[in-house]
Amino acid sequence: MGSIELVQFREATPEREAEVARVMAECPDYYRAVQGRLAGPGEVKDFFHAEVPGIPPEDVRSYGIYSQGRMVGLASLVLGWKRPGQSMIGFLAVSERERGHGFARAACCALEATARSSPHGTSMRIGIVETNANAFGFWRHLGFVETGERKTLEEFAGDVILLEKPLHG
Ligand SMILES: CC(C)(COP(=O)(O)OP(=O)(O)OC[C@H]1O[C@@H](n2cnc3c(N)ncnc32)[C@H](O)[C@@H]1OP(=O)(O)O)[C@@H](O)C(=O)NCCC(=O)NCCS
Repeated sequence: MGSIELVQFREATPEREAEVARVMAECPDYYRAVQGRLAGPGEVKDFFHAEVPGIPPEDVRSYGIYSQGRMVGLASLVLGWKRPGQSMIGFLAVSERERGHGFARAACCALEATARSSPHGTSMRIGIVETNANAFGFWRHLGFVETGERKTLEEFAGDVILLEKPLHG
C-alpha cells in the first residue's frame, strides 16, 4: 500500500488554497464527470469551509493526502453522518498523475481509522455521482456495497448513489 500522511486542514492559508486548487486541476476527469466542468475557486472554498447541518464543525473535516511531503490528493470526512455510529467520506480524489500507487487505499484506511477512534466508527458511507462510472469499481474493491439509496442533488450531473461498509464485526 502507498505510504501517505493524512493532514487535517483546520484553516485555509493562501499556500494551502493554491495546493488544493492544483490537485483539483489535476483531477479533471472527476469534475467533468460529476459537474460537467472543471473545478474553480468555489470548489476550493467549499473544501475548506464545508458545513453540514446538525453536525458540529469539528466533525466536518478536510484533509490533504501527502506522499513524501507533496500533496497528491484530497479527502473529506463527516463524523456522525445521519445515524449514530455512522461516518461518511465526502470526497476522496488523487491527482491523475499520482494514481495507481495505493495512495487512495491508504487514505481510505486512515479515514476509517479516524472514524473507529471516534464515537462514529460503526460504518462508513460514500456517495458516488452516477455519472462518475469509474469510481464504483474502486469503492467496491475496498468493500463498499450499494445500499439501494439514491439522492438527487441539483449541483451534480446525475443522482448520488450511496454505498456503505461496516467498520466493526
Ligand atoms: C478512485 C481514485 C481515488 C483511486 O485512486 P488510486 O490512487 O488510483 O487508487 P489506489 O492506487 O489506492 O488503488 C487501490 C486499489 O483499488 C483498485 N482500483 C483503483 N481504481 C479502481 C477502479 N476504478 N476500479 C476498480 N479498482 C480500482 C486498485 O487496483 C488497487 O487495488 P489493490 O490495492 O488491490 O492492488 C482515483 O481514481 C480518483 O481520484 N478518481 C477521481 C476522483 C473520484 O472519483 N473519487 C471518488 C468519488 S468521491
